[in-house]
Amino acid sequence: MAVAALAASLLHAVGAPNANLNVNLVVDVKHPGAPISPTMWGVFFEDINFGADGGLYAELVKNRSFEFPNPMMGWSEWAPTGGAGSVAIRDQEPFSAANPHYLRITSTAEAGFGAANEGFRGIGVRQGENYLFSVQVRTPEGKAKSLRVELAGPDGKVLATARISGLTTDWQPQTASLAAVGTEAKAHLNVILEGAGNADLDMVSLFPQHTWKNRPGGLRADLVQMLADLKPGFMRFPGGCIVEGHYLTNRYQWKNTLGPLDQRKLIMNRWNDEFKHRPAPDYYQSFGLGFFEFFQLCEDLGAEPLPILNCGMACQFNSGELVPLDQLDPYIQDALDLVEFANGAASTPWGARRAAAGHPAPFHLKLLGVGNEQWGPQYIERYVRFAKALHDRYPELQLISSAGPGPADQNFRFAWSCLRQLNADIIDEHCYAAPSWFLDNDSRYDRYDRKGPKVFMGEYAAQSSGTAKPDNTNTLECALAEAAYMTGLERNADVVRMSSYAPLFGHVDGWQWTPNLIWCDNLRVYGTPNYFAQQLFSRNRGDRILPTVLLGGKRFYASAVLDERAGEVILKVVNPGSMPVSAAIKLAGVSRVSPSGRQFELAGKRPGDFNSLEAPNQVATVPSLFEGVAPDFNHTFNPYSFTVLRIEVKTRP
Ligand code: AHR
Repeated sequence: MAVAALAASLLHAVGAPNANLNVNLVVDVKHPGAPISPTMWGVFFEDINFGADGGLYAELVKNRSFEFPNPMMGWSEWAPTGGAGSVAIRDQEPFSAANPHYLRITSTAEAGFGAANEGFRGIGVRQGENYLFSVQVRTPEGKAKSLRVELAGPDGKVLATARISGLTTDWQPQTASLAAVGTEAKAHLNVILEGAGNADLDMVSLFPQHTWKNRPGGLRADLVQMLADLKPGFMRFPGGCIVEGHYLTNRYQWKNTLGPLDQRKLIMNRWNDEFKHRPAPDYYQSFGLGFFEFFQLCEDLGAEPLPILNCGMACQFNSGELVPLDQLDPYIQDALDLVEFANGAASTPWGARRAAAGHPAPFHLKLLGVGNEQWGPQYIERYVRFAKALHDRYPELQLISSAGPGPADQNFRFAWSCLRQLNADIIDEHCYAAPSWFLDNDSRYDRYDRKGPKVFMGEYAAQSSGTAKPDNTNTLECALAEAAYMTGLERNADVVRMSSYAPLFGHVDGWQWTPNLIWCDNLRVYGTPNYFAQQLFSRNRGDRILPTVLLGGKRFYASAVLDERAGEVILKVVNPGSMPVSAAIKLAGVSRVSPSGRQFELAGKRPGDFNSLEAPNQVATVPSLFEGVAPDFNHTFNPYSFTVLRIEVKTRP
């Protein structure tokens, strides 16, 4: 039965809204609709706000390779008591030609001399944790004795120490383990050459021993755990505008992110100087978290990998530099090679690179983004060339194309009309707007052509103050507005195949953009109300849409899905208003229900409530059981709340 006819008949069955109740909600359990894509709720990762270097990538030393344009950035001279000497940057006979600069320490006193690294706005050290130090080192004159490595707090208190001896005149890797006896979020690392002499140091690195899956040189376990707890259906990487670069020279080039770390040529992060009000002159991309690690992370998370590639256009908010169409082939070749890297046999040239990195089996890449947030005819001309080459070679690959930065402007309409004609697979829509936009647009996709391209709501977030304004806060009000909008995504899951909040991570001392889904410092992490809203959707995805009819509710939002395996109806209800709403709920076509259901509620006292490092669960999901479930039952939804109800049902044959 068509949805309109169904609505009419159910309306008739329910009657007008009951005067004692605020709303009537009818769920047609008997006639499940379209399947919900496993990729419906995912995550968008970008190295913005210290998301990778200084964030997810657990390296604790900033500028470990001395390759920042100011090679001493992050480093300073360090003299222990009675010590004397100097430090210098050199590039003669480097350890690695791709990484030519290194640090020479010259100590002129028995007490030694060295250098200190400040980390990424400090180094997070936790008592009882081991830290693994590594370095490439040589002592050119063969005189120096040993290196002392220390972690120390701002007050100078030493929290961990280790010694490396046996230095040689040739470059060699050395390691040491440091056991921390104290906790400090803003420690620094001292590397001291003991005795008189000199030593050259490069790739000076420090990682916590405990990383995600305890991979050496891996990812911050607590941050990845936050992602794992979302159970994301996909992960988009590496961005965002970072894909595009201010200019093409600082675009993201995935091939430069593979192999030994010293071969991964560092570039300036494009967020380094993007916002004059939030400068981050020490923000660079080391690519320690590179494409292999991204694929591996997706596999760990059970998320479909969604790499986004530069399509021959630099960021159109910056230079908008274009690769001439007759010079686009290397960019297209990068895309073809990436598919081979992800999926090709280990005997293929790029499959061999994946196997060499430790993953002979394919990563089963199914989705690929052509360009990030591009617009205009220049984009379409480039997309057409990418799409032809990629689809000719890999017809099963689903391509993500861009509808530009706005959700309804001229660029958006132009992109959609071209991409529709081109039979594009999935179109990426972006929206950063006031909470009211999200509340007003929950029915946006009701009007979309069911036979056209599918939608990826690839970047969205309600902005409490204004887009990219520095005083935006992750309030409950914003989270509820997004949840209301997400009920619309869910009701239209036949058209909307994917969605992700953006950006994902923000470091409280290193951010450029706010709001963000997850915030951290060097030791702690917390989820915003928006995080909990995303989690409620992704962990209650269900398998099929259930048609719903909602009567009498203004600014009250609902959607429903069926979890076929669990035999449960999952209702998602958002009440962003200040009054409780009592709903008469009818589960149409149901013969039996379990009298008690499971409830998950995200609510607060004030719409402006938010979480912080100090109060991480001020607004968090509260699970409970609720009784009195029947095919027709009443339920009250608290003010400022997003509620998920899971109800076990049996349908009438
Ligand atoms: O999410 C922050 C930025 O917003 C992204 O990098 C870009 O795609 C969008 O403009």
